[in-house]
Amino acid sequence: MSLQGKVVLITGAGRGIGLGIAHCFVQQGASVVVTDLDAAMTQAAELELGKDAMGLVADAASQVAMRDAVNQVIGRYGKLDVLVNNAGIGGPLTQFEEIAASDSAFLGMSDEVWDEQLMFNLRTAFSSSNAAVPHLSDGGSIINIASIAALGPTTMLPAYGAAKAGVVHLTKTLAMELAPRRIRVNCICPGLLWTRAWELLTTQMQASQPELANMSLRQIFEATVADMTPLGGEQTPEDIGNLAVFYASDNARMITGQIVAVDGGISTK
Ligand SMILES: NC(=O)c1ccc[n+]([C@@H]2O[C@H](COP(=O)([O-])OP(=O)(O)OC[C@H]3O[C@@H](n4cnc5c(N)ncnc54)[C@H](O)[C@@H]3O)[C@@H](O)[C@H]2O)c1
Repeated sequence: MSLQGKVVLITGAGRGIGLGIAHCFVQQGASVVVTDLDAAMTQAAELELGKDAMGLVADAASQVAMRDAVNQVIGRYGKLDVLVNNAGIGGPLTQFEEIAASDSAFLGMSDEVWDEQLMFNLRTAFSSSNAAVPHLSDGGSIINIASIAALGPTTMLPAYGAAKAGVVHLTKTLAMELAPRRIRVNCICPGLLWTRAWELLTTQMQASQPELANMSLRQIFEATVADMTPLGGEQTPEDIGNLAVFYASDNARMITGQIVAVDGGISTK
């Protein structure tokens, strides 16, 4: 499934799933640009991905910052073929202790944390797409990273789930909007991956469930995976990257507006 000659921009790819997706695209011969908020991680990712890669510090939730990033991509590579909207955060950045200690994540959540979650997990896909679409090659592709939290309710994640459900809807809207240019827009819903996002979630679980006090965060994650996953085992960034590569390839030329969970069967239950 060669992607030789394709130029791919992946947001929030300084670590975790985004960096794993970047490696999958590099393996298929694509030129990869990674963006992140964190300068040190962005620089490390650029080095790790090889000399054809570029790292840019840019807030995926800002049209201004992402227009500047896209202009730099066009300046260096002359075009942009694929945008992967991966940037997002699993747990609250602020008011963390209050939410973790509350019996109800919903009742414990302020307007500010709600807005923060929607900005990081939904506006990121909107603002980055808005900046990229005018420059995307006709016949190109947008790939949105949502979550299984978009497909069914999780009381621990009311705002995150709503934001990711918004990403699913935005996927279908943009698929219609961009079909005349043969730009395909598809979505991946990852299941359970051991990244910084799950370190935050297991910290939240431990704070609100005293029976988890003697377990390590990794053990809490493994127990959650064992309990939830029909196929058994956690998913990896490469599992997500393999589908992203397929979506971006000509093999998927008639696939648009689709939502696929890479979750070991969790969402079928
Ligand atoms: N880990 C999981 O189990 C899981 C499951 C379902 C969906 N997801 C989704 O996968 C995506 C990647 O998550 P991850 O687990 O790799 O998390 P992570 O926290 O390890 O990595 C996310 C990266 O995105 C960056 N980022 C966050 N907001 C940004 C912004 N506004 N602009 C630029 N960069 C930004 C962070 O700095 C970080 O480097 C997210 O959208 C997340 O919601 C993760």
